[in-house]
Amino acid sequence: MSQTYRRHREQLMNRLSDGLIVLSGGQEITRNNDVTYVFRQKSNFLYLTGVEEPNCHLLIDPKDRLVTLFIPRTDARYKVWLGYVPSPKEASELFGIDRVLYSDRFKDEVKKAAKKHKKIYTDPDAAKFLNGTLKEPGGTDDLEDALWELRAVKTPGELELLREASRISGRAHRAVMKAARPGMKEYEAQAIFEAECLRAGLKHLAYPSIVAAGKNAAVLHYHRNNAEIKKGDFLLIDAGGELNGYGADITRTFPVGARFNTRQKDVYTVVLEAQKQCIGQALPEKTSLDLHLCAMRVLADGLKSMKILKGKTDDLMENGAVRLFFPHGIGHLLGLDVHDGMGGKRRAMPNPSKIKMRFIAKLEPGFVITVEPGLYFIDVLLNDRKNREKYKSFVDFDRAESFIDIGGVRIEDDIVIGEQGSPLNLTDVPKEIDDIEAACDL
Ligand code: GLY
Ligand code: MN
Ligand code: MN
Repeated sequence: MSQTYRRHREQLMNRLSDGLIVLSGGQEITRNNDVTYVFRQKSNFLYLTGVEEPNCHLLIDPKDRLVTLFIPRTDARYKVWLGYVPSPKEASELFGIDRVLYSDRFKDEVKKAAKKHKKIYTDPDAAKFLNGTLKEPGGTDDLEDALWELRAVKTPGELELLREASRISGRAHRAVMKAARPGMKEYEAQAIFEAECLRAGLKHLAYPSIVAAGKNAAVLHYHRNNAEIKKGDFLLIDAGGELNGYGADITRTFPVGARFNTRQKDVYTVVLEAQKQCIGQALPEKTSLDLHLCAMRVLADGLKSMKILKGKTDDLMENGAVRLFFPHGIGHLLGLDVHDGMGGKRRAMPNPSKIKMRFIAKLEPGFVITVEPGLYFIDVLLNDRKNREKYKSFVDFDRAESFIDIGGVRIEDDIVIGEQGSPLNLTDVPKEIDDIEAACDL
């Protein structure tokens, strides 16, 4: 793997060849008294080094093509309590970085190297650390943007890690389908997922697991995970493990202890159709807006056929009626962060439509994106007086309300945009109704 990180550093040196680059890794944060939060390295630092230890720094000099990693000097007491820490020589071999020094040399080394450069690029933590050491640390936004730009297109080593994180997470989702039973608490289903990840050696999850039964599935980032799962309830589980920083982001929704009933089937089939069509559109040159519009259109048509929406599909998309039932985006980039930035400022495109979107960019080979349409029956939106007034000729609110007990359905897969155009789906978890019922041991 050290070749992968070397390649990332080379790419960054080529992109910011006109200055010195300085980054600080994450520090441990106290939770209380002698206890720290579980440490997770900062994503940019992982991207450039693969180093998962706290209190490190990185100095990259593109002029001399020289990279220096700084690691903490630990004393005997540290070793007694927290164990063995590699020496600079060992760290150099381990991480494939030629020059490794102790962190107490960091400021002096930066000062020395800075003399050869007019421009310095520092990340915010390094800037704080170097406060007073350099005249103008600066360059923070440019460094951040360059890293977002590079991180959007995954290198082969990164794809390997994403594929493995997906494989393990997929197995964990299948374990939940097999074992979930009525009467369990949501956290028991969560425990099954997370145990599978831990058993496979994953130290972290990519994000807090969302395990939502029945109505709770209408809370988009539900985290309480403590309600009882009733027989026949939909269980929405949005969870993914993380391997060396690279995550999976997978959602499945299935009924527990029963087959899909007719209403569940109706809603589920619409979301699945939207997801399949969007994955089919996940091609280079298509934009994130294209995918979002594709999802909105299928969902709007589906809600019309369920007699929940009425009117012209284009109007329903533009006037916000569809948003009442699909109030989030179709997906996002995935990588070292579960929401892996936007791909850098250079990729930003104007929005030609009336649909609000945070960021629009063309898809490129090597992007890894999530495709995650959903339909939700959200009490606070459906029973809001203003919404009822505004959308009275487009939404049958009484009918929509009768679906509130279903909660919601989201189906989320992780997709690599392919060179040849054909998207590669990293997610291997049943999503067809028959396959889910079989996986649930019904
Ligand atoms: N798991 C959060 C998301 O799907 O964006
Ligand atoms: Mn997602
Ligand atoms: Mn998700």
